[in-house]
Amino acid sequence: KTGMFTYDPGFTSTASCSSSITYIDGEKGVLLYRGYPIEQLAEHCTFLEVCYLLLNGELPTPDEMQQFEGTITMHTMVHDQLTNFFKGFRRDAHPMAIMVAVVGALSAFYHDALDIKSKRDRDISAIRLIAKVPTIVAMCHKYSTGLPFMYPQNKLSYVENFMRMMLGTPCDDFLPNPVLVKALDRILILHADHEQNASTSTVRLAGSSGANPYACITAGIACLWGAAHGGANEAVLNMLEEIGDVSNITKFINKAKDKNDSFRLMGFGHRVYKNYDPRAKLMRETCHEVLTELGLHDDKIFKLALELERIALEDEYFIEKKLYPNVDYYSGIVLHALGIPTNMFTAMFAMGRTVGWISHWDEMIADPEQKIGRPRQLYTGATKRDIPPQHIKR
Ligand code: SDX
Repeated sequence: KTGMFTYDPGFTSTASCSSSITYIDGEKGVLLYRGYPIEQLAEHCTFLEVCYLLLNGELPTPDEMQQFEGTITMHTMVHDQLTNFFKGFRRDAHPMAIMVAVVGALSAFYHDALDIKSKRDRDISAIRLIAKVPTIVAMCHKYSTGLPFMYPQNKLSYVENFMRMMLGTPCDDFLPNPVLVKALDRILILHADHEQNASTSTVRLAGSSGANPYACITAGIACLWGAAHGGANEAVLNMLEEIGDVSNITKFINKAKDKNDSFRLMGFGHRVYKNYDPRAKLMRETCHEVLTELGLHDDKIFKLALELERIALEDEYFIEKKLYPNVDYYSGIVLHALGIPTNMFTAMFAMGRTVGWISHWDEMIADPEQKIGRPRQLYTGATKRDIPPQHIKR
């Protein structure tokens, strides 16, 4: 049942829940959102159209889209008292630490009167999160730079608004390059959902207790932060900068193959894909488009990434282990080219994934038979025994 976990005798935990949102075929490298291939959605839709699709199961009509986008726009500002939360952090606090705190605080501002059993109230929570998370992400960046927070502008599109809040200042009329806006819009589509990954399963398990959606999404953000999951995009760029030159690639490939070395090639491998992650192909194309638009097609890090990918895909260890580049491999490079600081990469992933998390939460809460998740364990501790006499108090 949705949100229930069952352990199979092989002791590999299998999250067994039914969902109609996203389908992955790891062997064939297939990813469908509500039945539509990720390649077609990335090519023909906007991120907000995909948000509507994930939340409602169908692509919006023009009227539905106009109303959805207008409602999102009207919720992009955050309660002004939320800005006080930032002041408690050092300027160099990791943005994901601030995201966990501030998104969690939304529970205190927006949830009191809501009933999660009401579809209307759940929709309001979904809209607020999709609308406010970009504002909070941009605030995290501004806080770290000492620059003032930027307010959203209702005349701008969702991604234009975010890029202006992130990269503009009150002293300029910054408007992002339309080619870069389209690229970031596509990057958000590629991150929007991915079935029962660690953070989505975390959101479902938290939500199965009846916790409010803001707290559940916060649990997802915390889980996503890990380098094995959403923290990998930041780790990829740090790894490429450490490799530095194509002459060092073989050394790092050998480290990744060494069982006595904990180093793993960041951005490679996946729990499900044993073929090329379809998002990685689209991310590499987007990366190339952005670098070309910015006149950075000779970008050293991108060329290093292409060569590392070429060598790894020809290496028998990676072929045997079916290790291919995943969504995180190229995302760091393109985010870097867009002017997003490395420590903000995972927050960007969270911004894209918020709609997936809240769609899974909504699907689970809407199930009238849904019960609290209760994973079981394989007990490997001591058998039953009595306390030794020396520990018994007379
Ligand atoms: C995301 O689940 C999702 O859907 C996640 C995600 C999403 O959209 O939500 O797709 C986003 O999290 C993508 C993954 C980002 N993480 C990284 O890029 C970090 C580097 N990758 C790895 O740490 C690793 O590949 C994992 C964590 C992603 C998967 O780890 P597993 O489960 O151990 O991988 P596996 O079972 O397929 O590994 C098979 C073998 C193992 O060796 P053996 O035990 O068989 O000897 O390959 C090895 C692994 O040790 N291996 C690697 C490797 N990844 C796996 N060896 C070197 N470098 C790597 N990157």
